[in-house]
Amino acid sequence: MPPHPPSPIPDFIYGTAWKEDRTPALTELALRMGFRGIDTANQRRHYFEAGVGQGLAAAYNAGIVTRDDLFLQTKFTYQPGQDHRLPYDPEASLSIQVAQSMASSLEHLGTGHVDSYVLHGPSSNHDWTDADAEVWEAMRKERDAGRTRLLGVSNVSLRHLQHMAAARAELPAFVQNRCYARLGWDRGARSFCHDHKIVYQGFSLLTANQEVLHHPLIASLASANATLAQVVFRFARSIGILPLTGTTNAEHMKQDLASRHVKLPPEAVQAIEALAG
Ligand SMILES: NC(=O)c1ccc[n+]([C@@H]2O[C@H](COP(=O)([O-])OP(=O)(O)OC[C@H]3O[C@@H](n4cnc5c(N)ncnc54)[C@H](OP(=O)(O)O)[C@@H]3O)[C@@H](O)[C@H]2O)c1
Repeated sequence: MPPHPPSPIPDFIYGTAWKEDRTPALTELALRMGFRGIDTANQRRHYFEAGVGQGLAAAYNAGIVTRDDLFLQTKFTYQPGQDHRLPYDPEASLSIQVAQSMASSLEHLGTGHVDSYVLHGPSSNHDWTDADAEVWEAMRKERDAGRTRLLGVSNVSLRHLQHMAAARAELPAFVQNRCYARLGWDRGARSFCHDHKIVYQGFSLLTANQEVLHHPLIASLASANATLAQVVFRFARSIGILPLTGTTNAEHMKQDLASRHVKLPPEAVQAIEALAG
């Protein structure tokens, strides 16, 4: 039995990449605006995880949220995805690197456990390798020791997921992928997730899909009551995607969360899905 009550899986996740010195203030702002899911990584090259921890502490002190209200997600990143600021000993085995990275994440975030621990990306673009299997086993041990509630994988293809299944590896609770409309909004991986009860988290829904964002269909659906971005986020949720947003703008944060209430009839959802896939 986990020693802590499970935080629910939120229906929107605030992403903290590329915010550098603004990370603490933007994390606190996101919580103030109503986000309860926070995504980060122990990868100093793109994330300032300790800054996320500072933002969390500020939010706790201000009485905005408590730890139990939150869904905290972080990642283990292989050395080739890092710069010189490593959260582990590069000479150590991968299993030890996972344990060291997790210990460092918990310290950064000021918590005894995270809610989701994600493999940032497999070691190969093609296959689920022996290295991935070692890392995944180490991540499972972190989960079994209570340091994360759930496990995920990121930047994976359908092929990676099929390899995991064929190797009889435990399947993840989450897949986190960049979601391109031109690839049917990652149709293959999404369909695998649907079949295996895996929650699909989609990022870069706006930035990777500018052609869709500015398509006349989206403009026609975005009436006076919805922005273009809100239509895309609402659409994403309608096809089973748990969206991430990394906005730095308070008004956009508000709008992104309010996208849950945008009305989008099933015909519109089908039309958007067919747009670029
Ligand atoms: N697993 C991975 O490898 C990976 C890779 C990339 C990202 N991620 C995660 O996903 C998170 C989000 O990344 P992302 O690529 O989706 O977003 P992002 O890079 O943060 O980009 C969102 C961009 O869209 C703009 N924007 C305009 N209107 C917006 C609106 N209404 N709502 C939101 N954004 C609006 C934002 O500008 P304003 O700031 O002005 O709103 C910003 O420039 C990251 O922070 C990270 O946590 C994970």
